Amino acid sequence: MSITCRSYGFTKEGAAVIAFTLSNANGLQAEIINYGGIITKLSVPDKKGDFDDITLGFDNLDGYLKGHPYFGAIVGRYANRIEDAQFELNGKIYELYKNIGDDHLHGGLKGFDKAVWIAETVQSGGDESLQLTYRSVDGEEGYPGNLDIKVTYFLSKDNELIIDYFAVSDSDTVVNLTNHAYFNLCGHEAGDISGHEVMIDADSFTAVSSKNIPTGEIRKVEGTPMDLRVLKPLAAGLSSAYEQIIKGDGYDHNWVLNTAGDISQKAAEVYERTTGRILEVYTTKPGIQLYTGNFLDEMGPCKEGAAYKKREGFCLETQYFPNSMKHKHFPSPILKSGQVYTHKTIYKFKTIKVS
Ligand code: BGC
Repeated sequence: MSITCRSYGFTKEGAAVIAFTLSNANGLQAEIINYGGIITKLSVPDKKGDFDDITLGFDNLDGYLKGHPYFGAIVGRYANRIEDAQFELNGKIYELYKNIGDDHLHGGLKGFDKAVWIAETVQSGGDESLQLTYRSVDGEEGYPGNLDIKVTYFLSKDNELIIDYFAVSDSDTVVNLTNHAYFNLCGHEAGDISGHEVMIDADSFTAVSSKNIPTGEIRKVEGTPMDLRVLKPLAAGLSSAYEQIIKGDGYDHNWVLNTAGDISQKAAEVYERTTGRILEVYTTKPGIQLYTGNFLDEMGPCKEGAAYKKREGFCLETQYFPNSMKHKHFPSPILKSGQVYTHKTIYKFKTIKVS
């Protein structure tokens, strides 16, 4: 794996943004910028060996600076929603920024997706990875504790984009980090994703309220459109009148993974028949949010002139469950002072070859 870099412009505050291109021997490429740790390009082969960029985004920094629905970004300090934009920890209430109704989403007004990360390339055994670090100071967006975060991106010879997250805090806090890449396995500008087939290895999911926030109920998928235990085209579920699909305006839910943090087991898979492209997801985290781009609405101009619309990209966000500090039976997102938060997620790309 090798890494090259180029200038990507400057933020309004004058911070230099650099784009790093990670390439492996099979020709796969991932471009990542140190603004938000955003994956700006992901070029992978189809069954004929033709490459396409399969992640949604913009052509340049301006697009990202103008605001966007977390395209390719590192999300934190707490991914997804926290109800009423507040939580209690050690007997103290912490008030957060309300950026989705009265609730808090993806770290607030200026989450990790808008931070300028310190970037360096790191050598190990002849391979290079990209390491991003950021200090989220005590009180940033309302969260307690100085949190030091390190995220590494590595593209393996087996066509895996491997993301490793570490964080330590000097006082107790909550941490839930993820990556918010939107994929379209036909190519970022190819349109509707409802023909993609999805498998999530989960017998249950966290049912949501009308505010799209887990109520605490862990519901069996059996007999519902949330049952994705074998590959199923998204279209069937998306057109169903199941009350949870109506609430999310599509899939926008957290599944309780049967893999339960065992990264050797496949947590999710997406197969796109016409291109033969397959995306597999492996993770050490207990949950995964499948979001089918329900709120993408004429996002343009984006990369190569694309104007992404509803359901033209999907995300698979590996995570603790949304709002999990409010439900004692959910895995705890609390990071104690001095302990280390770790999270590894692998996005693995494969193809079904034409004979
Ligand atoms: C959330 C959606 C939200 C989207 C973009 C997803 O992770 O689950 O509800 O609209 O991010 O912000």
